[in-house]
Amino acid sequence: MNDQMLNVVVRKRHEQGAGVVVLDLSDPAGLPLPVFEAGAHVDIHLGGGLVRQYSLCSNPADPQVYRLGVLKDPASRGGSVAVHEQLLEGREVQISAPRNLFPLAADARRSILIGGGIGITPMLAMAYTLQARDSEFELHYCGRSRNHSAFLEELKSADFANCVRTHFDDEAPEQKLDLPAVLGQAEQGVHLYVCGPAGFMDWVISEAAKAGYSDDHIHREYFQVEVDNSGAGFEVVAARSGKSVQVAEGQTILDALAGVGIKIDISCEQGVCGTCLCDVLEGEPDHRDVYLTDDEKAANDQILVCCSRAKSIKLVLDI
Ligand code: FES
Repeated sequence: MNDQMLNVVVRKRHEQGAGVVVLDLSDPAGLPLPVFEAGAHVDIHLGGGLVRQYSLCSNPADPQVYRLGVLKDPASRGGSVAVHEQLLEGREVQISAPRNLFPLAADARRSILIGGGIGITPMLAMAYTLQARDSEFELHYCGRSRNHSAFLEELKSADFANCVRTHFDDEAPEQKLDLPAVLGQAEQGVHLYVCGPAGFMDWVISEAAKAGYSDDHIHREYFQVEVDNSGAGFEVVAARSGKSVQVAEGQTILDALAGVGIKIDISCEQGVCGTCLCDVLEGEPDHRDVYLTDDEKAANDQILVCCSRAKSIKLVLDI
């Protein structure tokens, strides 16, 4: 994990679509920002221990700005509301250096980018990069309606505008996303990238699997998931210290470990980012995250302790 922190200032802020604020962050002294790759995100430190992650959606070739698009989600646990209320123009804020858990595949012959709602954000950075690489791609942007959707002007005026297709729920049936046609049958070198609400992503991923796409050709980034902490209690042993703790029903492994003084690095606390990944030495995890691939889950040798639980009565972790 890259622990480098950056101080940035909100240079520009504007509202787009329904409830989306677009923020341009830059170095307070106007210096170039660290380079980032398409698909990367930053952690924003909002005060009071509140840390949230947002994808960078600006052109990675522009070192002067990190652009974020943040949807105000009234059901959120405070993150997006704090961004909307606190991050006004001129405000300084601490962010992590960019980290990329959603990179473009280096060997792609063709890329299919599908963004649902605010899930368009990482796709924008990917489109800039693929265009600069002269690599074949198409970008599909799905939303409830044009009025609700951010970034439409940018997509219309971008150099890659001819690679963009929009699909709105309230417009003519012919423009709706015909997923089987877009996916076709899986071919060597064709990679799919999807980001959006969980139900939308599950639909795209299951259709891609039906079309023969292998798991390592389906790249995904969830931005919001429900964490389910239900299930019986179990024991967790921290092998390095030998400490043992009982995880109660409704409690996370993370919280139980904190109770015996074992601190694990965290960020999203939703099984999305991978920050809290620990190696499993013994026992069977009950994976509840959306970060590990199906193959990694089946291997049962890693666990995300912010959300996952145990199927066995005991888990021994390499911590
Ligand atoms: S903190 Fe993000 S996956 Fe656990």
